[in-house]
Amino acid sequence: MENKRPVWTSKYAFIITAIGSAVGLGNIWRFPYIMGQNGGAIFLAVYLLLILTICFIPLINELYIGKLTKKECVGAYESINPKLKYIGMLNPITGILISAFYFIVGGWIIYYICQSLIHSQIKDYGEYFSALIQNPVYPSLLTLLFVFICVFFAARGVKKGIEAANKIFMPLFAVILIFLVIISLNLPNANLGLEYMFKPDFSKLNSHMVLAALGQAFFTLSIGMGALLTYGSYISEDKSLVKSVYTIILSDTTFALLAGIMIFPAVFSFNMQPNSGAGLVFVTLPKIFSQIPYGNYISLAFFVLLFCAAVTSGISIVEGPCASLTERFKISRIKACTILFLIISALAIPATLSFGILSSIKIFDKSIFDFLDYLTSNLMLPLNTLFLCLISGWYLKIKGQNFIKNKFLSFFFNIGLKYIVPAALISLIIVGLN
Ligand code: PHE
Repeated sequence: MENKRPVWTSKYAFIITAIGSAVGLGNIWRFPYIMGQNGGAIFLAVYLLLILTICFIPLINELYIGKLTKKECVGAYESINPKLKYIGMLNPITGILISAFYFIVGGWIIYYICQSLIHSQIKDYGEYFSALIQNPVYPSLLTLLFVFICVFFAARGVKKGIEAANKIFMPLFAVILIFLVIISLNLPNANLGLEYMFKPDFSKLNSHMVLAALGQAFFTLSIGMGALLTYGSYISEDKSLVKSVYTIILSDTTFALLAGIMIFPAVFSFNMQPNSGAGLVFVTLPKIFSQIPYGNYISLAFFVLLFCAAVTSGISIVEGPCASLTERFKISRIKACTILFLIISALAIPATLSFGILSSIKIFDKSIFDFLDYLTSNLMLPLNTLFLCLISGWYLKIKGQNFIKNKFLSFFFNIGLKYIVPAALISLIIVGLN
């Protein structure tokens, strides 16, 4: 069984796939609006500090456990101690729950791509978006399509599906992003957006914002649901994990910054609000596109960009549970992906409908969609990461010296793994519970 496991065809394939997992809706959709709601530049400064210092620790840790055990999530935990199997199971469960809300946004993106293609005239973008998400049919069908696309690539396997998709979608993503950044920077008053992003206002610094930055950093790096553990388990030879991790972190951060540089100058140029929340991408930006020359093409490019980002992350979200099903139950990828398609759809459809006909159903005062987002982003992702850091730091007693040459860095890794990251995660969970 062991030697039948897939391996990455090259180091490039691994890195681009891990970047594909990290760079997703978290960068283009979530990062700018969370930054907009948390004071702009000062949020960015805190975020950068956290991502470059603390976040590399759980990221290396998750990849390393995968590489060490060469197993899917549940098997990896089980091989450390059979009793840990149940904690390991939380990972694929988190993946399935995340996909149930993440893929809905994927469905909306497909809708906006179609809308840009047919050049429809829209009067009120706010109303247009509300009407879409409340519609009982289109979002559900498009969510199913998005789920299908992600499971399709996962079903084709590591080389022909996951690697191949990332090798197409990630370069396309980068090219479109650069193109849109150039357009945005050439809009009148673009400098106001840049000022908003890069001129910190220290009065906005508070603990709530620091935790929002930390939560965003973990989410964007895909830490905490076993996607990276599974990707790590496909690394064959003993290449430097640290270098790969920094490449992943730097690329993810660069893409998030470029997304901000693409979005904020445009927002300020058209005198709009940067803190409009989740609607920033689906209401504010389309409104801006409608006012610039060739706006429909730019809108098309933007939503294709979002699609590329979402699909490569979506594939990684599916791959964790897919690997667990195939390896534990010894079934084919196609069977595992069919099962996943059915489970994810069964969860995602009610979540889609929670904007419309099921809006009266509340779980802890939240709609189904909001509850899934809250449960996974605020609680399950940090909890899974906390467990893995504690297991590695205190039980396996993993030392940074094993894979980090730099003495200071490996010392910092050891302290971080045992104390700093768990403390940060516990704070995140406590705040998340309130
Ligand atoms: N990192 C992805 C993003 O930024 C989301 C994600 C979270 C993917 C967890 C996999 C696991 O959109």
